[in-house]
Parts: sequence; structure tokens; C-alpha cells
Amino acid sequence: MAANPTIEPGLDLSWLNLYDEPATATPGKKGLTLKEINAGRYSDAARGGGDMTYRMRGAVARPGAHRFGPNYMSKSDVWSENCIMLYEEATQRQWASARDIPWDTLQPLPDEIERAMCQLCTMLTEVEFIAGDVPGQWLPFISAQDFEAGLFLMSQIMDEARHTDVFRKRALVNGGGLLAQGAGLGLRTLLEARDFTEMSVLMHVQAEGFVQSMFRMGELIGQTEADKRIFRMSAQDESRHLAFGVMHLKYVLDTDPDRAEEIHHYLDKAEGDASGGGSGDVTFPPVFESLCILLGGGVEKFDEGVQKFLLLRKRQINEYAHRLDVAGLNRRNRFGPLMAQFVDPV
Ligand SMILES: [Fe+2]
Ligand SMILES: [Fe+2]
Repeated sequence: MAANPTIEPGLDLSWLNLYDEPATATPGKKGLTLKEINAGRYSDAARGGGDMTYRMRGAVARPGAHRFGPNYMSKSDVWSENCIMLYEEATQRQWASARDIPWDTLQPLPDEIERAMCQLCTMLTEVEFIAGDVPGQWLPFISAQDFEAGLFLMSQIMDEARHTDVFRKRALVNGGGLLAQGAGLGLRTLLEARDFTEMSVLMHVQAEGFVQSMFRMGELIGQTEADKRIFRMSAQDESRHLAFGVMHLKYVLDTDPDRAEEIHHYLDKAEGDASGGGSGDVTFPPVFESLCILLGGGVEKFDEGVQKFLLLRKRQINEYAHRLDVAGLNRRNRFGPLMAQFVDPV
């Protein structure tokens, strides 16, 4: 369609001439998702160089557009091949702690069990709050050319907001309360990352991986239907965060294999900082003890709890090693002794 400059003298209307190729899309099985509109000149495959403006992918560049500060010019710095699908899944699977947890199934629990659950929730509510801040710091560094990676992080921040609120509600709802503040050492490392991939590998793959392995044992940790449901629903969200991180790491290693040693270095340091416990802080004494009480089913069954805790550690480390394998980073022979002792031979 060509502009008709005789309609109204003084109007520019030159933008009318930019419609050189019409864009159309057909809704798929899940409706009109970002995948269906990711085509032609609008697709991530057609991404040009970044220009540090807010020109969204596919829009026609305006000469003289302002820059908005440094952001990543290269797609591989922030991209993950599943970010489009993960964002859509996140929008479709939001839940609300106010209504989706069967709070009415909570009953008074023996003091030590209630307090152990509250101690665990105290650590988790801190971990989840930081898990929102960490990706939040990186949003300005994502180019508008890779906006789906940004949308995914925004959905993660909403997920982490819900996790922060659900663990706080659990701590306050059944006669306990918040107990000892967590160790926080591994969490500071996440905030101190100076590169997107460093942040993602430390947070999505390592820290959230450890948290996820724990949530997946929620059926054993939770003593009530409400507690089990909290872990189940949170695990559903965490699996998206992990999937983004694993596939981001894979994308980096596929497109820029020379970065492998640099990434190993970040993990060497973080595994050391976290004393082998990782950012889930499970080896911090109040957390270790509360998990053992919950897993064992009481202070008097503490030894049984310790055995199950060791299974949890084993699961955390082996799942972590496996996720790194999937991404294409073999660290099995680089783990320090605190982690290596748990790794099964492959
Ligand atoms: Fe979370
Ligand atoms: Fe998460």
C-alpha cells in the first residue's frame, strides 16, 4: 500500500510505505504463541546486529535513535533455544499461593516438626527473594533483538515472587514463624556475577538445580498435603528456570566453544564458595538439622533423617552433573572432594 500524500497536507505518513511484506500468523495448538509470529524478518534467526536502542526485532530502524546504554550485541550471550516456549508455558501455568495451596489441610504439628518446616521456609524465602533480584539485574543488558530471553526472565521474576510469598505464608500460618536467617554465602556469589552466562550457570544451573532436587523430595520433606503441594507447584516453576539455564549454556558452548574453560572457572569458584553445599544452603547447620528432622520424621529419628539427607545430597550432585553433561560441559572430574564423593560413575 502506498501513502497518499494528498489526503492531508503537512502529514508525514512515510511509515505507511514501510509495509513491504505483510506479516500473518495462524494460531497453533496452544493458541497464538510467540512461536507462531517468530517468522520471516521477525524471527530470531533473522536477527541483525544489536544497536543498543530499543528497536524491537523486525521494526524498521529510525536514523538518530537513542542508545540506552550497554547491552549484549551478540545473541549467544543471552539466548536459549527454549526461551520462547518457556515464556509461553510460564504465562499459561501461573498459580496463586492464596488459592492453589490447600491451606485448610494444615493441622497443628509436633513442635519440632513445625519449627523445622519454618526453619526451612525461612531459608527458602530468602533464597527465592534473591532469585528474583538476580535475573532482575540483567534485564537492561538484554538487547531488544533477543526480547524473548528478557520476557522469560520477567516470568521467572514473577515465579520467584510467588515462591517468596508461599514460603513466607507457610512459615507464618501454622503456629511457627521465621527462624534463623540463612548463611547467604552462595547467594552473594549470584549477585556478584559480572557476565550473563556466569550468572545463568551459577543461578539457573547450579543454585536452582540444587533447590529443584530438594523440591523434588518434597513428598518426603512435607508432612502435610499443603506442604507437599507447595513443593510440587514450586518445582513445576523451577523446572523452567533450570531448562532455560541448561539450554543457554548449551547455546553458548555450541556457538562459542572457546568459553568452556572460562565457564569451568566460574563453577570452580562457586562450588568452593558454597562449601559444596551450593546456594540452596542445605549444609548450613540450622537448615541441615531441620531437613534431617523433617526427612526422618522427628528429633528422635534424626539418624534416619541424616541417611535421607545424604540421599538428597547425592541426588543434588548427580542431577547437577547430569545437567552439565546435557549442556555439553563435563565437570565430573573437576568436582572438589566434597562433591566428588557423591557422584555416581557413569
Ligand atoms: Fe524459586
Ligand atoms: Fe527459580
